[in-house]
Amino acid sequence: MSGLFVTEARREGKPFLFAVAVIAALGGFLFGYDTGVISGALLYIAPELHASSFEQEAIVGALLLGAVGGAVMSGYLADAISRKWTKVISGTVYALAALACAFSQSAGELIAARFILGLSVGTASFVSPMYIAELSPKRIRGGLVSFNQLMIVTGILFAYIADFGLKGVGDNWRWMLGLGAVPGLALAIGMLAMPHSPRWLAERGREEEAREALERTHRAEDVDEEMTSIKDVASREGRLRDLLATPVRSMLVVGLALAIFQQIVGINTIIYYAPTILSFSGNSASSAIGQTVFIGVTNLVFTIVAILLLDRLGRRFFLLAGTIGLAIALAVLGAFFLSSTLQDSVSYLSLVALIVYIACFAIGLGPVFWLMISEIFPLELRGPAMAVCTVANWSFNFLISFTFLTLVDAIGKTATFWLYGVVAVIAVVFFALKVPETMGRSLEQIQEDVTGRKRRRRRTAPRTRHA
Ligand code: BGC
Repeated sequence: MSGLFVTEARREGKPFLFAVAVIAALGGFLFGYDTGVISGALLYIAPELHASSFEQEAIVGALLLGAVGGAVMSGYLADAISRKWTKVISGTVYALAALACAFSQSAGELIAARFILGLSVGTASFVSPMYIAELSPKRIRGGLVSFNQLMIVTGILFAYIADFGLKGVGDNWRWMLGLGAVPGLALAIGMLAMPHSPRWLAERGREEEAREALERTHRAEDVDEEMTSIKDVASREGRLRDLLATPVRSMLVVGLALAIFQQIVGINTIIYYAPTILSFSGNSASSAIGQTVFIGVTNLVFTIVAILLLDRLGRRFFLLAGTIGLAIALAVLGAFFLSSTLQDSVSYLSLVALIVYIACFAIGLGPVFWLMISEIFPLELRGPAMAVCTVANWSFNFLISFTFLTLVDAIGKTATFWLYGVVAVIAVVFFALKVPETMGRSLEQIQEDVTGRKRRRRRTAPRTRHA
């Protein structure tokens, strides 16, 4: 990965790759939009639908629970009906569910509609990167992973801007939620014009079509090599239980730890509840939504910084520095809510702490988790391993977001943020001891780092290869 995907696609001299990049952008964008839009909408939904703290959590959490289900189903659907049709259906369901959210008349209806929306978000979060990776030339596949993260945070920022722009409009929260139908529909229609994944075609013996799809995205001299590699990997494809074979098990522990820590340091309490947190410190709903846009811009800017530097300074540097930084921001946020003197004398401190927190997440755990799970697993086990990590990520996202307001009610704001801070400190220790540097290293070297021993040639377990 040496830069942004679109630049790299241009360098490949294959215009069709732009279309593929745009579809990638839509999948990630929708994921971000729908996870981000609820933060501002919630401030208006709660009074209008008389939603209790529990119901507000359920409105946020239903999407996440749906996403867990969507991520579980996505591997099956992507194989059974193809990546292409899974994405067409996902975009259609997205658009319909966004409209259903907009027209909800009660908290119960909204919760049900957001669960269905979640099924589509979870499916898109797994199938989009998979589909694009299968259509991209090897040389630029890495850039795609980070490009997807960039589009997630762009979607979040657009959601915050939509929340801000629509705050004075009648039925504002309905518009905020309903707008998701536009990119959803664009994804469904855009996908109709896309080819099937060459790998999916080759696995079904449709080699001619697979070759045609490859010819649209690969240089002529690369097509044969790619065809051979697709058939080779398909014939050695590992199953879920192979993940438990050493040394892959050690890699799975690292992947799962990254997936879980990414969520339990509390990122989505900030993404989903930023305006609520800012209104805790006395801001009106409207100024809290305005300040949240800064948080979205910071997220985007620092994600770009990370993408440009991750290949120069390494993943570990950003992971460790970012997580230490966010632990400090959480300590400050907790202290802010403890001290009324701080709240009176430096009222903007909560906004500053949230911005530092987001910047540190955006250079560290945000992109590094998604990047590393695409790098650390042997090629033939990459699909199932990434699926397991994605499901774990959504499950813990659900757990943390669903319990946030209850936790604040039960133990107070200070203890809640300090609790996430303690988790961040534990994460730093784990990362320092267990997470290998993957920048510029082969899979074998990475596995030696993780298992702490030289790898012997294995005869029975699947061979490992890097893409
Ligand atoms: C995480 C999301 C989060 C987003 C924030 C992603 O890497 O997986 O849960 O909302 O970053 O930027």
